[in-house]
Amino acid sequence: MKSGFKRILVTAALPYANGLLHLGHLAGAYLPADIYVRYQRLKKRNILFLCGSDEHGVAITVTAEKEKTSPTTVIDRYHPANLRAFKDFGMSFDNYSRTSLSLHHATAQEFFKEFHRRGVLAEKQEQQLYCEKDKMFLADRYVEGTCPNCRYPQARGDQCENCGTWLNQVDLIDPKCKICGTTPVVRKTRHWYFPLGKYQKRLEEYIKQRSQRDGWKENVLRYCESWFKEGLEDRAVTRDLTWGVRVPVAGYEQKVIYVWFDAVLGYISSGKEWAEKSGDANAWREYWLQDDTKYVAFIGKDNVVFHCIVFPAMLMAWNDSGKEQYVLPENVPANEFLNFEGQKFSKSRGWGIDVSDFLRFFPADTLRYALALNLPESRDSDFYLKDFQARTNNELADILGNFVNRTFAFVDRHFGKKVPKFGGLSRIDKDMLALMKEAPSKVGDLMEHYKFREATHEVMNLARSANKYFNDSEPWKTVKTDAAQCSTTMRVCLEVIRSLAILFEPIIPSISRKMWEVLNQKGEVEQQGWDDASVPGLEESHTLGNGEILVSKVEDKQVEEVVRFLENPGVETSPAKDVKPVISMDEFKKIDLRVAKVISAERVLKSEKLLKLQVDIGNEKRQIVAGIAKQYSPESLVGKLVVVVTNLQYAKLMGQESQGMLLAASDNNDKLALVTILDELSSGSVVK
Ligand code: 2FM
Ligand code: ZN
Repeated sequence: MKSGFKRILVTAALPYANGLLHLGHLAGAYLPADIYVRYQRLKKRNILFLCGSDEHGVAITVTAEKEKTSPTTVIDRYHPANLRAFKDFGMSFDNYSRTSLSLHHATAQEFFKEFHRRGVLAEKQEQQLYCEKDKMFLADRYVEGTCPNCRYPQARGDQCENCGTWLNQVDLIDPKCKICGTTPVVRKTRHWYFPLGKYQKRLEEYIKQRSQRDGWKENVLRYCESWFKEGLEDRAVTRDLTWGVRVPVAGYEQKVIYVWFDAVLGYISSGKEWAEKSGDANAWREYWLQDDTKYVAFIGKDNVVFHCIVFPAMLMAWNDSGKEQYVLPENVPANEFLNFEGQKFSKSRGWGIDVSDFLRFFPADTLRYALALNLPESRDSDFYLKDFQARTNNELADILGNFVNRTFAFVDRHFGKKVPKFGGLSRIDKDMLALMKEAPSKVGDLMEHYKFREATHEVMNLARSANKYFNDSEPWKTVKTDAAQCSTTMRVCLEVIRSLAILFEPIIPSISRKMWEVLNQKGEVEQQGWDDASVPGLEESHTLGNGEILVSKVEDKQVEEVVRFLENPGVETSPAKDVKPVISMDEFKKIDLRVAKVISAERVLKSEKLLKLQVDIGNEKRQIVAGIAKQYSPESLVGKLVVVVTNLQYAKLMGQESQGMLLAASDNNDKLALVTILDELSSGSVVK
């Protein structure tokens, strides 16, 4: 990082909560952002990493209509599902928010009101596409047609996903209503417009200055140049829709703010939510409102115009008020697209693989590694399962895993698991230590310049050299002929493992953690210093931990299994409905669940539903009242093994005390069944 910056703010594009994340999303914005952040944390920089779900716009309502449900149901399903997938993939966000929060609505409205009050926005009556059959204006994704720029036939009303052009819907060739397929008519409607054109000069200056300072990517600059060349136009920032942030202006009660106007402000709201959660509601200001913050916004190429032009222009407009001064992105390292097995990921065609599905087959770090080496940093790239298998087996397992295992096994066998001392250093030892010494700055430099593919190559190269060093040093010979040399060799190998654990942490954090455990080092690997990886840091005679398999190879039959799964779409591909928000293991452990034997059961007087049971929960008898009389006769329950929540507050039902709750399952048709234990188990057994 260049001097002058005191802290770093990183955002990754807020994914729409209208579907599951797939590998293309990870390669576009999320993995690069996470590698960068983890690296900066090891560099001990003050950094904040924000993301969240984008829950407005037509993306959500179209999904809701397709699934014949409400937008709220859609976002409440996909927000937790995507949060879970990110967690399982090892994303290390400081906060993952959602734009449906009232905190976010207030932020977006505050910006809108401020622009409205200061006359930044202009109200205009303009032509928009209207479907006479569905009786509505066809905002954004409600209309599709041919892109006037690249002739892609399925461009949406606001953007062509093929060439990334931000469109005016009336410019679409042969537009069709997405709901009924008919050709819409053109009608007038009123909207508020943001005058992008007025900011063009300042935006050009801004991008020129920042790109010189922080080296913007060629692809991003090319996109920006082409927009500037065409000339920026006023853009409507309100929509004739009901789902979204209400327009806080009289006469606009029936309209909402354009999703992109609100989404980019979601980054700020995520910061505010993080601050609230951390106990200091103002803490977000330190990152967002200081010009010595380095703000880096990671996105995919289809989001470039919104992050390099729209968002900066909005922040400039706010900053012109002389109020708080928001920091503008220092860099927007957008990636191109990742294809899957030679074709574009496509939700509608069912092509690709979701993150959660992939992670049911393989560990996250193997995916992180293969993606890191294949990031579409300057052009579209392809993910092939065969490549993934080769990367895992030939590199992670055969180079890194093998080096760690053979070193550990040798030290275990010949040095009693204790870190040997450095004997004299010969040429070959010095060369190996020199490679280790230069690695942190070499790899760090690539990380600072958003070259994560190369950075990953470099770290694996260090492991490759280390493997060669082991071979060339022939410790299996020197152990008999030259004890001092053998000791040096193994010490050097262990020191390199320590360095590799630190240098690989941003890329494959779980494997790094395992390496740290093999070395039996204090603290967590993510708390180490990046630059400490350049020098030896082990203590002589320190006892190593236990050897473990770092990486399991991907078998052909596993790949075949994935292929079969892909050929059978629809099987287990959609998440279970109405899954509640994620809780931690600690929270789950608060519930005391026991196996209980039903001793007796009787009906509760005057109740059709309730049965009163006496159950044995170990050394204690409890009375439980449960609403199961319609499904079970009292006699049928005696002797059954059921599951009881024993630490739930006692309750009174129809005047009878219930000293616990039985676990039961019910389906949508209200069928109910008790959870029972099939095998013989003693009462009081803990259910966990
Ligand atoms: O393209 C998308 O998935 C958008 N939801 C990205 C939004 S990024 C930011 F503006 F919130
Ligand atoms: Zn196009």
